[in-house]
Amino acid sequence: MYKIVVAGTGYVGLVAGVCFAEVGHQVTCVDIDEKKVDMMKQGISPIYEADLEALMRKNYAAGRLDYTTDYAAAYKNPDAVFIGVGTPEQPDGSANLSYIASVARQIAENIEKDCLVVVKSTVPVGTNDKVEQFIKDFLVNDVKVEVASNPEFLAQGTAVRDTLQAARIIIGTESKWAEEMLMKIYEPFNLPIVSVSRRSAEMIKYASNDFLALKISYMNDIANLCELIGADIQDVARGMSFDQRIGSKFLNAGIGYGGSCFPKDTKALEYLAKQNGYELRTIKAAIDVNTDQKTILYTKASKRLITFNGLKVAVLGLTFKPGTDDLREAPSLENIPLLLAQGADIYAYDPVGMDNFKRKYPAGKNGRGSIQYADKVAEALEGANVCLIFTEWGEIKAVKPEAYKQLMRTPLVYDGRNIYEIKAMKDAGVEYYSIGRK
Ligand code: UDX
Repeated sequence: MYKIVVAGTGYVGLVAGVCFAEVGHQVTCVDIDEKKVDMMKQGISPIYEADLEALMRKNYAAGRLDYTTDYAAAYKNPDAVFIGVGTPEQPDGSANLSYIASVARQIAENIEKDCLVVVKSTVPVGTNDKVEQFIKDFLVNDVKVEVASNPEFLAQGTAVRDTLQAARIIIGTESKWAEEMLMKIYEPFNLPIVSVSRRSAEMIKYASNDFLALKISYMNDIANLCELIGADIQDVARGMSFDQRIGSKFLNAGIGYGGSCFPKDTKALEYLAKQNGYELRTIKAAIDVNTDQKTILYTKASKRLITFNGLKVAVLGLTFKPGTDDLREAPSLENIPLLLAQGADIYAYDPVGMDNFKRKYPAGKNGRGSIQYADKVAEALEGANVCLIFTEWGEIKAVKPEAYKQLMRTPLVYDGRNIYEIKAMKDAGVEYYSIGRK
């Protein structure tokens, strides 16, 4: 078993650290935020993620997992350091690598033995070559340090399962020493390992995420066409799914992909291509489709209603997908300002995302309109003139068609996630619009 340090305790770092401890490694997670470290020691996760806290507590109690802000001590003598800090998108679409650079420098200045540095964060192809050079430039002691790429494929809400039962582990190394060590670190996971060069590993991450984003945008594009020609996207998707070359996953049309990965990684790859004098037309198309798709409910409803001014608008779901409190790139963030600018009185409900949303949009008057937060779905629907569904939370899916008819002033529903059977809504007397279905 290895002595592992994980830098960064966000989705990527914390989940990796906990899972390494779970399979038996000795893990220390480093974060600069003292409050966060104290919380984690008490078994409280800074991110909303099922299963995580139980494993945090179990492995902390077993002495295999610890947390610290003292990076200088942590980086002294680990066998491997995994970097899982953020690489946020900059206005031009490029990735901000300053967090990676600062961890790299801290490692270089403190490491006292040979060490493998493994970058889990998503970084532009070629970055890890530079990280290795950067560490070598700042090394204080005469030790061997190599950098490997080990991209992370977890999805929010299922992060622990995605890590412990990953479809594959990608390792990108430039030496036998690094390859063998990473293989050994991952041996207890008992999962398929794909070992490639560092640059190929970096590319696999982008190519995989962008392929999935492209798949979603393709289905959204086809859905919009289905509506125009009278076909049903869900039937079309079902028909496609039996072809194993296509597969059954990620065929759901909706109001566009959000979250911390697809929007960022599509823009980053487009930027990387441009920098290398190449136009990545497929990904550019995926981004364009997604931008329009995010406000498609607003666009549709605007055509049906003369104005949103003075209307009570029920908004169901604020997060970018169910199972997370994350609002990054959520369609709600595109639609709420449009509704407020028109003078809508919004009543929003989300099972876990409301506290985060309130920080951006406190309850009360906002410009021409206003926003209130409901304790229950029924409260949001009560007396509403129109309802927009943005996220397919189980609790929202459980709302019966009759409830819209009974509770709303006018039962007019725009469903961005195709939650309902069209016939059931019609039978209940609801005027219902969804995505890619007549
Ligand atoms: C994604 C990848 O799945 C993961 O492998 C990668 O490491 C990070 O990015 P995540 O962003 O957590 O994970 O969520 P995911 O479940 O993939 O959904 C992303 C977005 O696509 C959501 O907004 C979701 O609503 C949307 N989506 C997904 C669709 O619109 N249709 C689908 O069929 C699937």
